[in-house]
Amino acid sequence: MSGSITSVAYIGATILFILSLGGLSNPETSRRGNLYGMLGMGIAVLATIFGPHVSLSGLGWILAALVAGGGVGLYLARTVQMTQMPELVAFMHSLVGLVATVVGYASYIDPTAAAGMSPAEAGIHHVEVYLGVLIGAVTLSGSVIAFGKLSGKIGGKPLMLPARHWLNLTMLVLVLVLGQRFLAAGSIEQGMLPLYAMTAIALLFGVHMVMAIGGADMPVVVSMLNSYSGWAAAATGFMLSNDLLIVTGALVGSSGAILSYIMCRAMNRQFLSVIAGGFGSDGGAPKTAGGAAAPVGEVTSVSAQETAELLKDASSVIIVPGYGMAVAQAQHTVYEITKTLREKGKNVRFAIHPVAGRMPGHMNVLLAEAKVPYDIVMEMDEINDDFPATDVAMVIGANDIVNPSAQDDPSSPIAGMPVLEVWKAKTSIVMKRSMASGYAGVDNPLFYKENNRMLFGDAKKMLDEVLAALRA
Ligand code: TAP
Repeated sequence: MSGSITSVAYIGATILFILSLGGLSNPETSRRGNLYGMLGMGIAVLATIFGPHVSLSGLGWILAALVAGGGVGLYLARTVQMTQMPELVAFMHSLVGLVATVVGYASYIDPTAAAGMSPAEAGIHHVEVYLGVLIGAVTLSGSVIAFGKLSGKIGGKPLMLPARHWLNLTMLVLVLVLGQRFLAAGSIEQGMLPLYAMTAIALLFGVHMVMAIGGADMPVVVSMLNSYSGWAAAATGFMLSNDLLIVTGALVGSSGAILSYIMCRAMNRQFLSVIAGGFGSDGGAPKTAGGAAAPVGEVTSVSAQETAELLKDASSVIIVPGYGMAVAQAQHTVYEITKTLREKGKNVRFAIHPVAGRMPGHMNVLLAEAKVPYDIVMEMDEINDDFPATDVAMVIGANDIVNPSAQDDPSSPIAGMPVLEVWKAKTSIVMKRSMASGYAGVDNPLFYKENNRMLFGDAKKMLDEVLAALRA
């Protein structure tokens, strides 16, 4: 394939990637967005393999890698549970970081990579290598720690080393000094030592950055690492002089940064402190149940039958789904209940918090899978003012996103995070298995409010009983 045909294919793939991002911004067009993305990636891979920079003598290796990588990807995509998706995404980001690091080393030690370059061009190439390895190594180790935290293998409590900001600053200065040594090296052998040292520091920095982040701020970490992985891919594109990889990396990097910004706004965090890393630790470690701010009072529990009665008597209902609905896989029963209530003439809507569940859009995906109509699924800002005029707010496996202490307790780790004000409804019903706290590890005073009822049990089991009682 000639260079010009490859360029045309790359432009086509770029357009498809942009259309894909556009499609993914709305649940109704997201399937089409995914298709555009797959088509674009297919074109990109074929155009690269048959393009002028790849020798077909290595085709056997490339095919073997494609079959092995594609096989693992297919297996993971088919077997992963919806609740494990954030971990999978973090794992994928770590692979992007690993690739950027390895390609950086390969591109530095490959004697043909800089052959024929002027000294200025070789200097630029070495800067690309250094930055690529730096971003790649931070993304790699940061994503591995994020994977551990999201899968519960590493505790959610932020690691607060003494003088941690000084530690970060020292690492930054060392990276700059080593960069100067690397660029001044007279040979590849001389450049390897500063490169190794910088890689070790970058790996340490990634670990330290994500370890210092509290459980409540993990949503921002996921989108921030998404952004970092994009910039790592763009850096690889510079090293390999591959325009499509630069553009694709920049698209992922900037869309991840925009998502981080949206997440920050949703959680009332400062965007700039997120970009600098090490955010979310000043709120202190999550309080344990029974701590100074532990709420007090009586909890009123109800049965599934009583819940059905409350729903029958209501004319307006808002359903707030959370992580527990995903765990219980209760979305199909939620849809059946919604249908039954709507057939009885009730106004039923859904309220979606931007960080409900464990990944952006988690609840939207589950509700779309259960065929809940899009027009009754509302974003937090669209529906939060409607709670006072609502008869029943039904909270299904959600906790942090409906926690009034975010508004009332300035010392809470989630202080300032906008929450769904379910307690303003005439009656709120919280469906969960116990009094346990949610992801942020914070007690929830909602459970003790006078107009709140607790329906204890697995969300799927309890909702099946509520549905049966509604239909009886
Ligand atoms: P959480 O605050 O984590 O609360 C979920 C609740 O579901 C738990 O308290 C749990 O209580 C209950 N639950 C678990 N399994 C259940 C089951 N089978 N049946 C019924 N209930 C069950 O969830 P949320 O309200 O959706 O808030 C999300 C949290 O995750 C926020 O803190 C957010 O910052 C964080 N987070 C979000 C993301 C993104 S991007 N969305 C990423 C990482 C972290 P029991 O154990 O008593 O049942």
